[in-house]
Amino acid sequence: MNLTLKIWRQKSPEDKGKMVAYKVTDISEHMSFLEMLDVLNEQLVEASEDPIAFDHDCREGICGMCSLYINGEAHGPDRGITTCQLHMRMFNDGDTIYIEPWRAKAFPVIKDLIVDRTSLDRIQQAGGFISVNTSGNTQDANAIPISKHAADEAMDAATCIGCGACVATCKNSSAMLFVGAKISQYALLPQGQIEATDRVLNMVRQMDLEGFGNCTNTGACEIECPKGISLVNIARMNREFLKASLKG
Ligand code: SF4
Ligand code: FES
Repeated sequence: MNLTLKIWRQKSPEDKGKMVAYKVTDISEHMSFLEMLDVLNEQLVEASEDPIAFDHDCREGICGMCSLYINGEAHGPDRGITTCQLHMRMFNDGDTIYIEPWRAKAFPVIKDLIVDRTSLDRIQQAGGFISVNTSGNTQDANAIPISKHAADEAMDAATCIGCGACVATCKNSSAMLFVGAKISQYALLPQGQIEATDRVLNMVRQMDLEGFGNCTNTGACEIECPKGISLVNIARMNREFLKASLKG
């Protein structure tokens, strides 16, 4: 198929940036979206032009690096997938496709389609961990009884890959789906109880410091999340936060 691509080009964080149109031809419907961008970049390199900068690593839906806003949707028109898992069969010959970076104050553009998502790392560093005795006297994890329901819910929360699509989709640039998932992952398990109070207070404080907005229950994040993280995790985070605030 032959396509017109309108892509956000921005040389540096200080540059104003603009949409630039490109043509690509003979694109196979079996290609992934990133492979299609690889074809364009080869064309640009051959023409001695600056290739499009975009983030990617695993290209199999695991690392959360591929953050593209495609035709106004985070990770494009398909559901339950990341940009690297999006295939060109979702588009038609002759289409014009708009490709932009995530847009949020807490995700400043570094270059073209690459944004700085270290704000999510700093939230994680503020409390997204447990302290474990690794002296050799560690208790066998299998000796701690955990209900199947709690284990399943914790595992579902732990599938968040930190891609930031929830933030990019939210009209308030809220990171509460991400933070809710990271807090739930521990709140549901006995191993997470020791630091539970500090964890939720510190992670929410860091989330606010980074400049993310608040949740107004629109639910767009849940729809665009490639891992199906549920809004239930935001409700759990709010309960954990209230409990910790009353204790504190
Ligand atoms: S909650 Fe979903 S959309 Fe948000 S960072 Fe995690 S995987 Fe990505
Ligand atoms: S490149 Fe790793 S999730 Fe897309």
